Amino acid sequence: METSDYFKRALRDLRISVTDRCNFRCRYCMPEEIFGKDYPFLSRDSVLSVDETVRIARIFARLGVRKMRITGGEPILRKELPEIVAGIAEIEGVEDIALTTNGSLLAKQAAKLREAGLMRVAVSLDALDDDTFMKMNGGKANVRQVLEGIDAAAEAGLSVKVNMVVQKGVNEHALLPMVRYFREKGHILRMIEYMDVGNTNGWDWKHVISKKEMLERIGAEFPLESAAPNYTGEVASRYRFADGKGEIGIISSVSEAFCQTCTRGRLSADGMFYTCLFATKGHDLRTLLRSDASDDDIVRRIGSIWEGRHDRYSLEREEARGKTDGAKVEMSRIGG
Ligand code: GTP
Ligand code: 5AD
Ligand code: SF4
Ligand code: SF4
Repeated sequence: METSDYFKRALRDLRISVTDRCNFRCRYCMPEEIFGKDYPFLSRDSVLSVDETVRIARIFARLGVRKMRITGGEPILRKELPEIVAGIAEIEGVEDIALTTNGSLLAKQAAKLREAGLMRVAVSLDALDDDTFMKMNGGKANVRQVLEGIDAAAEAGLSVKVNMVVQKGVNEHALLPMVRYFREKGHILRMIEYMDVGNTNGWDWKHVISKKEMLERIGAEFPLESAAPNYTGEVASRYRFADGKGEIGIISSVSEAFCQTCTRGRLSADGMFYTCLFATKGHDLRTLLRSDASDDDIVRRIGSIWEGRHDRYSLEREEARGKTDGAKVEMSRIGG
């Protein structure tokens, strides 16, 4: 049973968070003073088991999901991650399985994850100098660890993209060094406009470097040509280096929203289903999974949630912001 929402958007991608914990404390996501020792992280019991996760993924595939992306917190912290990947890889209809990770634990796990059926990784890295990177991640890892993770992933046969959140006055100086480095390495670097996700990062327009500005700065050194999306609704806009040596992407949720084609659902580690990155409320699927509801019952429930979906936060950002202050789901719960 395929489903479509109020704006006729299908449900094609599912981002599955497998833990709300992370070994980093990025200032824009989990600042140490809020996400400290006493922070109420999800308990073991409240997190979906491997079987529950694979079952719900299978149910989503019946609703038309073709692309599964595993997120966190930091998903590699979840001990059973290879089992989860292997379970999802067996689901009929799933064409793509990717992982979004901070890369710090990837060097050890890449080969095992590839073997389990993982196809792609998106590794976050915000700068190439330790000073900037460690200031941004709360001093939890250095650049070398992440670069080794990236190399290990590529060696294991995983396709690699690198995600960089660009914040004005914080890491904008890292923009060109990052472009140069990953162009040489042959990995696609995607620059993300700093977004107002969650409730703790004190976001303001003045911290954003827009897509237009990024293109001007990069284009001054490397002439660029815009390229067509790989698939309808691709989040990043693509730009090829005019000399033919690779491409970059820009994710412009702030200056150029892409809600019109948003086919993404998000599942938190405790089984709450969110229909937007900026949602204030999730729909509890865990209770259903732990009841005597059949797969068919759950398919119908998710179908009806999706049919009622009106979300387009980024398109309505200014209006929406006032209404959601202090109440949005945290990035670390739904992995971006
Ligand atoms: P591909 O499958 O390679 O196209 O990757 P992706 O861009 O779908 O996934 P990834 O996890 O690499 O996401 C990169 C960034 O885009 C993250 O910061 C996400 O938070 C952001 N992003 C992804 N989907 C959405 C979305 O639906 N809305 C908004 N506003 N941002 C999104
Ligand atoms: N704005 C933009 N991107 C963000 N990410 C985390 N918080 C933000 C934010 N406020 C990124 C991470 C990772 C991806 C999942 O989301 O760095 O690359
Ligand atoms: Fe940083 Fe990602 Fe961890 Fe958030 S989940 S603190 S963005 S590494
Ligand atoms: Fe989709 Fe919400 Fe992002 Fe818009 S803001 S693209 S509706 S997740």
